[in-house]
Amino acid sequence: MPVSIRVCVPKESREGEQRVALVPDVVKRLRAMDLSVSVQSGAGESAGYGDEDYVAAGADIEQDADKLLAAANILLTVNPLPAQQMAALPQGCVLIGFMNPYSEPERFATLQGKQVSAFSMELIPRISRAQAMDALSSQASIAGYKAVLIASTLLGKFFPMLTTAAGTVRPSKVLIIGAGVAGLQAIATARRLGAVVEGYDVRAAVKDQVESLGAKFVDIDIKAEGSGGYARELTAEEKAQQQAILARHVAAADVVVTTAAIPGRPSPKIITAEMVAGMKGGSVIVDLAAEGGGNCELTEAGKTVVHHRVSIYGPLNVPSTVSGHASELYARNLLNLITLMIKDGALNIDLEDQILRDSLITHGGEIMNAAIKDKLAGGAQ
Ligand code: NAI
Repeated sequence: MPVSIRVCVPKESREGEQRVALVPDVVKRLRAMDLSVSVQSGAGESAGYGDEDYVAAGADIEQDADKLLAAANILLTVNPLPAQQMAALPQGCVLIGFMNPYSEPERFATLQGKQVSAFSMELIPRISRAQAMDALSSQASIAGYKAVLIASTLLGKFFPMLTTAAGTVRPSKVLIIGAGVAGLQAIATARRLGAVVEGYDVRAAVKDQVESLGAKFVDIDIKAEGSGGYARELTAEEKAQQQAILARHVAAADVVVTTAAIPGRPSPKIITAEMVAGMKGGSVIVDLAAEGGGNCELTEAGKTVVHHRVSIYGPLNVPSTVSGHASELYARNLLNLITLMIKDGALNIDLEDQILRDSLITHGGEIMNAAIKDKLAGGAQ
């Protein structure tokens, strides 16, 4: 009987991270595929899962991180593996996780040298067949939901309209900028809380989606559909046109949630300090793009800045704060990806499969991703 493929899950090392790459329910599914699973002791603790839950699902618990890495045929992480752990990976193993692929490409030379097959969850193509593996989407949806809840606790107002004995309270106005996966979930959440919601995006295609959630679409005549379902960067003229119209909507809002991102590039600056100064005192901006530099020019990552009595908060790693469901959805994304590369209990990475090919950074001693290869050839930035 051949030795089964071992899937290993280390404790996440990013500070404050509460998610884990596998949840017990998904361990069961991997065991049913004849794979072995090892989890580092305590890895699921902050997501609500104890070692005993993983054991009950059929996993082994490993106390020692080095031993866990050394035994991995497939290593699953949420965050990019630290360089020192990359160096400890066994030759030819599979590594799957978020890898922040466009920064510090020199890291990948270690993986290349070890002939690691490194799959970056950020590079899963945006095609229908890949939706079940799309971790950017599963985590963005959580971030959109939580951003609205954060805004609601920072705002000194109700979201819904309330009729009380002391008179009627008007509903809060919420503006969501960037109506992708996070933005649409933010719109839905703000609507569920009873706010009056507007949504804006440079991709005109999302107008119907915004309206179907009961929000009004802010129509600015700019069409910036890019490739792969993403937006392209705006020209200077388009930016000026956008800001002139958006300023009015920002000024009328009690809450603005911004989610606009362009993959591999700094987040577009959409809200200027002047626009913030035009908002009502007590208003709140939650900038989900803070990690990429922010959509508001005043955003400071991880902090709350107060400007003209408006609070601007740039939270970091929001999905981690909903650790249970974020881990559950992420683990299912990983399971669906692993299923594509396992045949009869053995590893079989088919490079003809677009999902596997596009998400590989290194494989067989090669850098597979053209953009990363170019960066490495042109001198790492
Ligand atoms: P994202 O996180 O990269 O961007 C968020 C939103 O910000 C996008 O809707 C984008 O158009 C918008 N944006 C960018 N620059 C802007 C600007 N200057 N002003 C205003 N808005 C701006 O995108 P996300 O949410 O990850 O995905 C975008 C789209 O990709 C989805 O809405 C969908 O159409 C497509 N998609 C397809 C999938 C599939 O087929 N498997 C899976 C996920 C997304």
